Amino acid sequence: MGKLLVLGGTGDAIKFVQTLTQQCPQLDITTSLAGRTSKPKNLIGNVRIGGFGGVNGLVNYLLQNSIDYLIDITHPCAGQISHNAFLACQITKVPHLIFCRPQWHRQEGDQWIEVANLEQVPQAIPHSAKRIFITTGRQNLTPFVGLTNLWFLIRSVDLPEQTIANSKVILDRGPFSLAKEIELLKEYQIDTIVTKNSGGDATYAKFAARELQLPVIMVQRPPLPAAEIVTTLEEAIQTVLSYLGIREGDLQNHLVSLK
Ligand SMILES: NC(=O)c1ccc[n+]([C@@H]2O[C@H](COP(=O)([O-])OP(=O)(O)OC[C@H]3O[C@@H](n4cnc5c(N)ncnc54)[C@H](OP(=O)(O)O)[C@@H]3O)[C@@H](O)[C@H]2O)c1
Repeated sequence: MGKLLVLGGTGDAIKFVQTLTQQCPQLDITTSLAGRTSKPKNLIGNVRIGGFGGVNGLVNYLLQNSIDYLIDITHPCAGQISHNAFLACQITKVPHLIFCRPQWHRQEGDQWIEVANLEQVPQAIPHSAKRIFITTGRQNLTPFVGLTNLWFLIRSVDLPEQTIANSKVILDRGPFSLAKEIELLKEYQIDTIVTKNSGGDATYAKFAARELQLPVIMVQRPPLPAAEIVTTLEEAIQTVLSYLGIREGDLQNHLVSLK
């Protein structure tokens, strides 16, 4: 036993696979990506790319590839794949775990306007806003298409799928330093930021917004399925290892016996 499917697309998934591979090189780990980024970075081990074809497609994949364990380390805002994975694992009885990093919470000095989803963003933009910084990803620009009275700075890893009038696109991949974020906001005279509640420790525009006292439209995460959830990578690794019957102290012995 030891065939793992990791649903990835995040830096956390990469770290998880790197750490687990180091600790337990015999495990057969495959990372699955949706294929949204043209040049995914730092991936190790087996990688498969592209959708499965809904719940049924994932059920078939799990069965055909004799997957023993599925761990979902997709982005907290990727709601569809997490629900598909939950259902597919229920159907196939493949053990399933979600890693979900804790969300950010509003702190003193934050001027957050919280919305449930991207579609609600246009109504939440303050009347005084003129120059908006969008960091919600290149596939999430539809709500901004008709807003011709505003100017947008759009940051994404790859070129956006849609063209927005009155905008500039910068291609970049985080994490970003606080100093650079402040510099960027000042350079483009940004007065409002749109971001998702991704969580994690990385420095993003929301910290710079706090420094500059700018409003942030914070898009909330979709609800998670009623699955087993861990919030740290250490817990995720321990949970997988303990399911496979591998205790940390016995790691080497166990590995010898697996050979
Ligand atoms: N949403 C974000 O803000 C965000 C930010 C950073 C990274 N990402 C990453 O980008 C990917 C797509 O995000 P999304 O918001 O479009 O997700 P989503 O709405 O939950 O997923 C849409 C469809 O994309 C396919 N898919 C998603 N993740 C996959 C994976 N890891 N492996 C194989 N297929 C996958 C599935 O297609 P089928 O139904 O055909 O299987 C899924 O139904 C995710 O893997 C996520 O980790 C998302």
